[in-house]
Amino acid sequence: MSTVLISGGTGLIGRHLCKKLIGKGYSVSILSRTGFTEGEIPVFHFDTDKNEIDERAIREADYIVHLAGANIGEKRWTKNRKQLIVDSRVKTAQLIFEKVKEYNVKLKAFISASAIGYYGAITTNKKFSETDSPYTDFLGETCRLWEKSADSFEEIGIRTVKVRTGVVLTSQGGALAKMITPVKLGIGSAIGSGKQFIPWIHIDDLCNIYIKAIEDTQMHGAYNAVAPDFKTNREFTKEIAKVLKKPFWFPDVPDFIIKLLFGEMSEMILKGSSVSPDKIINAGYEFIFPGLEGALKNVLKIEE
Ligand SMILES: NC(=O)c1ccc[n+]([C@@H]2O[C@H](COP(=O)([O-])OP(=O)(O)OC[C@H]3O[C@@H](n4cnc5c(N)ncnc54)[C@H](OP(=O)(O)O)[C@@H]3O)[C@@H](O)[C@H]2O)c1
Repeated sequence: MSTVLISGGTGLIGRHLCKKLIGKGYSVSILSRTGFTEGEIPVFHFDTDKNEIDERAIREADYIVHLAGANIGEKRWTKNRKQLIVDSRVKTAQLIFEKVKEYNVKLKAFISASAIGYYGAITTNKKFSETDSPYTDFLGETCRLWEKSADSFEEIGIRTVKVRTGVVLTSQGGALAKMITPVKLGIGSAIGSGKQFIPWIHIDDLCNIYIKAIEDTQMHGAYNAVAPDFKTNREFTKEIAKVLKKPFWFPDVPDFIIKLLFGEMSEMILKGSSVSPDKIINAGYEFIFPGLEGALKNVLKIEE
């Protein structure tokens, strides 16, 4: 039985991935700053400031999935917050890397989260693919550094996969919960121009892509983890309203309100291009939820 160590395994994606991996017979452990034990799953402590990590976590791992990172959408992007967003991803990967080398652990793969923010907060008609360069804005630069820290593993011969993730749809919070609230109140509307794309993925598909990245030795490098149903902000919000049987007629929320509320982070909400899932599909992945309507109905537990 292989052991998968998950940094940030206590988070939204990590909790779901732990359950799926255990269901498939993997032994799972978590790397966490807090080090408390979550049910049956062993939780090991790490601290990048002190350069400390519980040795057993690294020595026992066959695979490492790196999900840890300060939440990108939780707080305003002050200078300190931006530094934390980068450091929490990059320094954690660097600490794991140092220890894997020091203990000479024969890891079978290092799988790192990344984000579609790699391609930048820009609205264009272009559909971005994995061969495109990172954009130069804050999220683009964050993803570049995050992926570069993952590439260190590839450089020492450990298979490395980077999962460029879109907005994850789950029933347990995340971005969807924030989008649903106004629609439920009957005041759903498009944000800004409404023309910005929202690349999205159902949590089950994302976890299955992580599991494929663990099991498929042909997978190397970056893969976009987004569903093939491209939707703009307006189409996305309309679909939520349709599924919830709520009206969609309120005036669009103007850019300036979003900018006032969120500062620089508003770029992430007001801009966005579509992103291609072709590479992961060509690698043999079949989406369980390729369409937004089915994904929303599943997550919102709405009977067909
Ligand atoms: N959810 C999405 O829609 C989405 C989309 C694109 C990319 N991603 C990426 O996928 C990864 C997992 O996402 P998620 O939604 O599961 O995130 P999450 O719920 O915010 O959980 C991330 C985990 O990272 C750890 N963490 C938080 N602050 C940290 C810090 N300052 N230093 C080190 N670790 C810290 C926490 O674990 P402990 O408290 O146990 O240490 C937390 O449970 C993240 O890197 C995220 O950016 C997510």
